[in-house]
Amino acid sequence: MSTLAISTAREVFELLREDLLAIEEELGRDAVSNVRTITEIAEYLREGGGKRIRPSLLLLSAKALGYNSPGMIRLGAVVELVHTATLVHDDIIDGADTRRGRPSANTTWGNEKCVLAGDWLYMQAFHLALEERNFKVLDLLIGLTQQMVEGELLQIQKLGRPVSEAEYYDLIFRKTACLFSVSMQLGAALAGAEPAQEEAMARYGRAVGLAFQIVDDVLDLTATEEVLGKPVASDLREGKTTMPVIHAMDHGTAVDRQLIRQVMEDGGFTRTSKEALQEVLHRNGSVEYAMAAADRYAEQARKALVPIAESEFKRALLWVPDFVVARDK
Ligand code: IPE
Ligand code: IPE
Ligand code: MG
Ligand code: MG
Repeated sequence: MSTLAISTAREVFELLREDLLAIEEELGRDAVSNVRTITEIAEYLREGGGKRIRPSLLLLSAKALGYNSPGMIRLGAVVELVHTATLVHDDIIDGADTRRGRPSANTTWGNEKCVLAGDWLYMQAFHLALEERNFKVLDLLIGLTQQMVEGELLQIQKLGRPVSEAEYYDLIFRKTACLFSVSMQLGAALAGAEPAQEEAMARYGRAVGLAFQIVDDVLDLTATEEVLGKPVASDLREGKTTMPVIHAMDHGTAVDRQLIRQVMEDGGFTRTSKEALQEVLHRNGSVEYAMAAADRYAEQARKALVPIAESEFKRALLWVPDFVVARDK
């Protein structure tokens, strides 16, 4: 077996191609309800695509631990369905109008129908998970869903006031890293892994997930909507302070802090501009500071894999943190 590191998304995709196609087929079957509007919304969300990073992690975790059976297709679809449900609800809460480069579902069907479609998707995920007849799987998924909902709720409670780094980490663990961690744990659970290996996979998922959300928050401030496929510079307008902004508040001048507060108070760039905000962040090294934190979590993720035996799947897992920090969407 080659000891060369995997270095491209294409190589990882090739490694998982058949399984990812099977997951797409499963997702196609899962997007169907007796009620037409639900099918329309579920189908619209599915067609929107997305990176499918959570099912990919679940597959890599299971396969790196020697598992290769249909359970991983089912649970891969489950984590993507849970993710999709959270996106529908998140876009309603954030009042977002684009997702995956298209109008978000709430702009087409309205909030009421989309809340219900999100609920339906959660239950569709649990319905599918139940087919595993495995209480541990259900236990993980129920705990996860509660963490994610709590995360979004805590975020709402903190809107409009600067949060501390500790609060920020708690929020991003709940809303994002927990799902990454559980995806890895589900793969390990399927493989009947030893507790130490399951723990290693969980730690890897947590670290990759934290890096992922830090980068998502940086991209919100630095990317364009065309590339990202969702609204940009939206977090601060919505009153959410993310890591680069927390850093600029702590290290910037009184004028810098005032500019940041103005965007939050106005819910937009009325008294200042997006460019002026970006200038504040760059001058204070705030984007670099956040990216350095993402890099540290990427490194922590790679280190977590030490107890896992060498394989091409492990090599793919070692590549994922690089992808997460270098991505542009
Ligand atoms: C978006 O997740 C929500 C966050 C946790 C930041 P992704 O960036 O994985 O979204 P898709 O599935 O690729 O669209
Ligand atoms: C992601 O938070 C949280 C979810 C679990 C959906 P964001 O609000 O930053 O996600 P995006 O940027 O809308 O994808
Ligand atoms: Mg959002
Ligand atoms: Mg975001």
